Amino acid sequence: MAAMTAVDAPVSATYANDRKHVFHSWSSQGTLKPMVIAGGEGSWFWTEDGKRYLDFSSQLVNINIGHQHPKLVAAIQEQAGKLCTIAPGHAHEMRSEAARLIAELAPGDLDMVFFTNAGADATDNAIRMARLHTGRHKVMATYRSYHGASGGSIAVTGDPRRWPNETGVSGVVHFTGPYPYRSAFYADSEAQETERALAHLRHTIMVEGPSTIACIILETVVGTNGILIPPPGYLQGVREICDEFGIVYIADEVMAGFGRCGEWFAVDHWDVTPDLITFAKGSNSGYVPIGGVIISQRIADSFKERQFPGGLTYSGHILGCASVVASIGIFKEEGIIEHARMLGTDVIAPALAKLQEKHPSIGDVRGLGVFWALELVRNRETREPLVPFNATGADAAPMAELIAACKERGLYPFTHFNRMHVVPPCNTPVDEVLQGIEIIDEVLDLADARYTG
Ligand SMILES: Cc1ncc(COP(=O)(O)O)c(C=O)c1O
Repeated sequence: MAAMTAVDAPVSATYANDRKHVFHSWSSQGTLKPMVIAGGEGSWFWTEDGKRYLDFSSQLVNINIGHQHPKLVAAIQEQAGKLCTIAPGHAHEMRSEAARLIAELAPGDLDMVFFTNAGADATDNAIRMARLHTGRHKVMATYRSYHGASGGSIAVTGDPRRWPNETGVSGVVHFTGPYPYRSAFYADSEAQETERALAHLRHTIMVEGPSTIACIILETVVGTNGILIPPPGYLQGVREICDEFGIVYIADEVMAGFGRCGEWFAVDHWDVTPDLITFAKGSNSGYVPIGGVIISQRIADSFKERQFPGGLTYSGHILGCASVVASIGIFKEEGIIEHARMLGTDVIAPALAKLQEKHPSIGDVRGLGVFWALELVRNRETREPLVPFNATGADAAPMAELIAACKERGLYPFTHFNRMHVVPPCNTPVDEVLQGIEIIDEVLDLADARYTG
């Protein structure tokens, strides 16, 4: 436990000033004990006391090409040496090139990009476009979803982070998406789940009034809320329903896009073309904040003659755009998409399947690319989760125990509710992925000890 003490103890002025002056996201400020990060390289980072961690959470599932990629750092430095920022109304070679490259990669006629600062404002602006394009007000989203923490995007978010933020934003309708392992539709096959989830969506649209609904926003693969992979036919079905009722289909690819699912965009996996795609995180591995909305020509045309009533001082920030250009170049040169896909099929899938054979506490393993979840249960028959939905404090202790055990062993994990996600950078070498999974193997004995089935 010596390492734990070193990690958790206040060791420096950095720590003291943080606790005194930094107000952190999603935290009760009095109980937070942040790690003091001193550096990072590739899939590793280290704290100021020199302890190294294999980053199996890619920070916040955003450093898709790892820490401190030299070419990405150099591109930002080079642009910073030339010109750091311009107003959003001007054109600049980096802004034009980032938009051109993204449009080239995006499916169908998604040919224009509105750049934002991050994912939340990408959600807000995609919804704004859909509402103005359709002249309708309502927004549909699933309960198991996260779309950001701005005033608009948190209202659309389905998960419990919305609860304390319910400020009466009107027109948001939540519905239940597919989740075969815990089917809300009593489905016993993926085909049934697809059929029934689509019937439920169609019913919700009917009773809400199709002519009132501007858009449906869906994480292509639900991220934080469970790595929920849409069963075959679901996204195609959503596309068809949207076409039938003139509803805009927004794919939130803030977490799932840019290699995470072993594709440029996760929708490529199902060959579906949404009307709008939101992106952020993996587009430049978060080295500089940036996000955006990729816009179909049809929707862009809505704003040919009339003004788009939205904007941001930093829309298309040129350091951000330079980093997107460099990052896309690195993806191509280094075969990052192919590597992510290979890690999913040849390394992570078989290794996690083996863990599931060994550990009764693993109820379900699911994922693709470098986007995986182990769903932990107390009983495989009843599927009782290791900790309850949205557990905190003592209820969440079994997961806290797993996190602490991973950190002791030098693995930085990503957990949410009763799940451990396996989401290292897309370019993590095979041996490091296996090293991390070996640590998970060790710590899962703790979850097995709570197994009652
Ligand atoms: C699917 C999804 N959408 C939107 C967001 C919000 O992005 P940001 O935190 O950059 O505002 C996130 C962040 O985790 C996300 O996972």
